[in-house]
Amino acid sequence: MRIGFIGAGKVGTSFGALLKLKGQEISGYYSRSQKSIEHACEITGSTPYSTLEAVIKDSDWIGITVQDDQIEQVVAEITSLPQYRQLCQSKTFFHMSGATTVDVLKPLKTDIFSLHPLMAFPSYKTQLEDWSNTFITVENPNTSVRSWLPKLGLNTLEIESSQKVKYHTAAVVASNYLVTLMDFAINELEFIGIDRESGFKALLPLVEGTLNNIQALGTKKAITGPIVRGDVKTVKSHLEALEPEPKELYRLLGRHTLQLISEANPMMVHLLEEDDACQK
Ligand SMILES: NC(=O)c1ccc[n+]([C@@H]2O[C@H](COP(=O)([O-])OP(=O)(O)OC[C@H]3O[C@@H](n4cnc5c(N)ncnc54)[C@H](OP(=O)(O)O)[C@@H]3O)[C@@H](O)[C@H]2O)c1
Repeated sequence: MRIGFIGAGKVGTSFGALLKLKGQEISGYYSRSQKSIEHACEITGSTPYSTLEAVIKDSDWIGITVQDDQIEQVVAEITSLPQYRQLCQSKTFFHMSGATTVDVLKPLKTDIFSLHPLMAFPSYKTQLEDWSNTFITVENPNTSVRSWLPKLGLNTLEIESSQKVKYHTAAVVASNYLVTLMDFAINELEFIGIDRESGFKALLPLVEGTLNNIQALGTKKAITGPIVRGDVKTVKSHLEALEPEPKELYRLLGRHTLQLISEANPMMVHLLEEDDACQK
């Protein structure tokens, strides 16, 4: 079975490289720019295609690994190809978006599924070593997809299309908002003269230890700090020291943290619920 890609970006290139490593045959790549095509083909030792027809014709499965907003456009381009029915008849198409359902591929009127790696790809660097413990989530698999997945050596999750919004929300909170939280913490250290790199290094063992605690104890028992202890004075001093925007985030997170605690201190609840206008 030959697998080709439309969209030679971060995910298409990295996933193609993983597939090659796992002994899968990669036909090649078609993309918007020649530069991206050449880069992906060099990494995967596959064929550069200059047209959509060519990559589809030469592949049994085709991954549409363009930006989410572009998937519909690519599908429309495929369905407007002359003799597209004949071209796509025995082909299987998939995309790799966590937010978009497989429905976007339905106009192709052939076998379709979606695959979403629970992993962040901030750059073109192929993170082959990072794939080892990754979960890949499949939507709408048929029997041949189900029997192919174990060959990738990844952890697999299966979800319904109707569950995709909640699923992707979880992925965004765990990955993107962790970056936002780290930025918040690093900013506070930078404010007192600790440069960003040193700040991150100092915070990293704390974060890793916390993740280990969550793994060992679950979220409710892993929570420590002034909110659990009921140290109202400490939380008050944090709020007084924060600028308005991070203060709002601190309060919001504090209120969510209260939900993890069985008996919250009423003064703490009040402190985290009131806004600055009420305090004056
Ligand atoms: N990045 C992540 O962390 C991540 C994680 C999990 C899943 N995903 C999913 O993976 C998919 C790809 O994301 P990505 O981060 O790899 O995006 P990306 O790096 O921006 O790559 C998208 C690629 O598609 C090409 N492209 C765009 N429109 C096209 C069109 N009309 N025809 C042909 N090629 C086109 C781009 O063109 P050029 O040829 O101009 O480069 C680019 O190479 C998305 O569905 C995304 O949701 C991303």
